[in-house]
Amino acid sequence: MAHIIDGKAIARKLRAEITAGVAHLGTLGIRPGLAVVLVGDNPASRVYVGMKEKACRDVGIFSDEHTLPAETGENELLALINRLNNDERIHGILVQLPLPKHIVESRVLEAIAPHKDVDGFHPYNVGRLVTGKPVFRPCTPYGIMVMLQETGIDLTGKEVVVVGRSNIVGKPVALMCLQQHATVTVCHTRTIDLPKKITMADVLIAAVGRPEVIRGEWIKPGAVVIDVGVNRVGEKKLVGDVEFEAAVKRASHISPVPGGVGPMTITMLLQNTLQAAKLSVGEL
Ligand code: GUN
Repeated sequence: MAHIIDGKAIARKLRAEITAGVAHLGTLGIRPGLAVVLVGDNPASRVYVGMKEKACRDVGIFSDEHTLPAETGENELLALINRLNNDERIHGILVQLPLPKHIVESRVLEAIAPHKDVDGFHPYNVGRLVTGKPVFRPCTPYGIMVMLQETGIDLTGKEVVVVGRSNIVGKPVALMCLQQHATVTVCHTRTIDLPKKITMADVLIAAVGRPEVIRGEWIKPGAVVIDVGVNRVGEKKLVGDVEFEAAVKRASHISPVPGGVGPMTITMLLQNTLQAAKLSVGEL
């Protein structure tokens, strides 16, 4: 049976360190501040934003939440971002995605000052990641890398297979693995013979967003499996992208859903906000 990678425990340890970092900045008269902007009433987004606010409170970060109606115009949203860019109390700005269809996502993400872009979605931060000199890293892939590191998994020379090519997870995690000297394959909906690709993986990172589409029997015995999927089945049950019951019998290490990658994402957002506040006073 695989070792279960306990994202909750790793997140707890990190949050204790972040709390200490926030307290240290407090002695210098700085309180890290995070602005979270939600447009519309997507129920999942609402839940995430609520979790982010609570997480900030728990570590001592000032949380400034802006909930705007779904029909908010792009210019109005850009004006708010401009105000937040110039607000000294705010070190990090996060605009919850997805945005309503009438708003052009790239225009919004590019309006956030790169030094406040704690999601790491601005082209400046994306470019820094591509060139191997990251400043702010997207939170979910950053959390995955910390989980691997905390579990003692060295990626040097390993075959990493990423399933999913989103800007939020698939593409940035592939770049981060490359930076850690892995040989990286990125698979997606048009990939021919996905099972064959997965069979090659020493480390499989599944970020598909469909319940248990990756079958346990495709996993190479002894592989490390990181499951990014959070899929609701029925009323209450959450499952990952990987068929856990079968995969746990073949993998050497596996991250569960829930309790794997999920708790790491918000933790890395707190980490990035602390980093932004430190950068603002030249503490890094
Ligand atoms: N929607 C889904 N994941 C994310 C994320 O990491 N950041 C933001 N801003 N929106 C998201």
